[in-house]
Formats: sequence, C-alpha cells, structure tokens
Amino acid sequence: MPDLTTLGLYSGWIYEAIASSQKGRFNHAAPVGFSTKDQAFCELVIFKSSQTWQNIQSIGEFALNLTCDLKLFEKALHAKDELDYVKAEAVSVPVLKDADCVLELELVDTLDQGDRGKLVAWPKRIYGKLKSPPLNRAQTLYLENLIMETRVGLKNNRELKSRILENHRVIAKVAPDSDYQSMSRALLNRLGLS
Ligand SMILES: Cc1cc2nc3c(=O)[nH]c(=O)nc-3n(C[C@H](O)[C@H](O)[C@H](O)COP(=O)(O)O)c2cc1C
Repeated sequence: MPDLTTLGLYSGWIYEAIASSQKGRFNHAAPVGFSTKDQAFCELVIFKSSQTWQNIQSIGEFALNLTCDLKLFEKALHAKDELDYVKAEAVSVPVLKDADCVLELELVDTLDQGDRGKLVAWPKRIYGKLKSPPLNRAQTLYLENLIMETRVGLKNNRELKSRILENHRVIAKVAPDSDYQSMSRALLNRLGLS
C-alpha cells in the first residue's frame, strides 16, 4: 500500500485539497481539508449536508487533488463546470487534470460527529509531483498576526485583538505542535493576550 511519507505531511496538520467524486454520470469536486496521523491513512471531516459526503458514502471511493493554484479551489466552489477531469486508475471516480499530485482513495471507516462525519481512507495510488508543500493555513495566518502586531494603536483595538486570537486558534488547529503555534503563542504573550 502506498504511504504518504513522500508528500512531507506533518502528522495531525490539516492540509487543503480538492476532493473529486462522482454522482451517477456527473463528475464532482469541492475543497476539503485532510490530515494524517500515521502517514498511512487520510482523515477528513465533512459536512453530511454536502454533495461530496453523499458521493463518498455511496461509492466508497474518492480522490484528493493537491494543488497550490487557488484558481482551482475557486472553480471547485463557484465554477464547477470549468474543471477538467481525467480518469483515475485505482478508483472509479475522476480526478482533476490540473492537480499537481493525486491521491486515489478507498473509504475504510466513517465516524459520526453530529452534522459532520469523519472519513478515514487509505491511498490505493499516489502520483504526480508537488511544486511546493501542500497548502496549510498556519503560515499565512501567523504572518497575518505578525503584521497586525505592528499596527499602531493595537493596544486599544478590540477588533484587531480578537482577529489575532481567532488566527491563533486556527493555527493551533491546523498545525498543532508546530513552530507556527509556538511563535503565535509568544506573540500573544507579548500582547498580554494569553
Ligand atoms: C479551502 C477550503 C477547505 C474546506 N474544507 C472543508 C472540509 O474539510 N469539510 C467540509 O465539509 N467542507 C469544507 N469546505 C467547504 C466545502 O468545500 C463547501 O461546503 C462546498 O460547498 C461543499 O460542496 P459540495 O456540497 O458540492 O460537496 C472547505 C472549503 C474551502 C474553500
């Protein structure tokens, strides 16, 4: 079974991808986050109200398309018919032609989480070459916090401070135990926000 180590994913971090799936004759795609604990299985938390959830539940297969091209994310949300698909080899659902790297996955477990569900899937095939590490939000959020920290008048600006705290919350969620999390914590300390 192919493992995920070649992708350079940190365990527990949440990366952004585009899930491709199928409903009947229709190709489908939508942005999703995914993580791995063990470099073997992928985990996703998906709203049960989404088409993606329904497709994966009914077919038991899907693909994660990795790209840093945000135009593809935008199309996957707002211009789905502009996406180009090609056939996968190991699964019966289509994959995105313009993805840099593709994980063809089989669903192995579904865990109920109220209005969402956790999907656990194993990669039957991984191919393509990443141009840069898969998208993770921690870097840009920490950068944003650094910029906000330099704003004149920050001390009395409640809105700015709550944005910094919210960014910190997300950094801890998407990049636990990372340098971004510890640097962000230090930033909160400097501002007396922790
Ligand atoms: C970058 C990004 C990441 C997302 N991650 C998730 C996710 O992990 N789980 C989820 O349920 N929705 C996620 N969404 C929201 C879905 O993409 C969105 O609800 C979409 O409309 C679902 O489409 P569908 O109903 O056609 O499947 C994300 C959106 C973006 C832009």
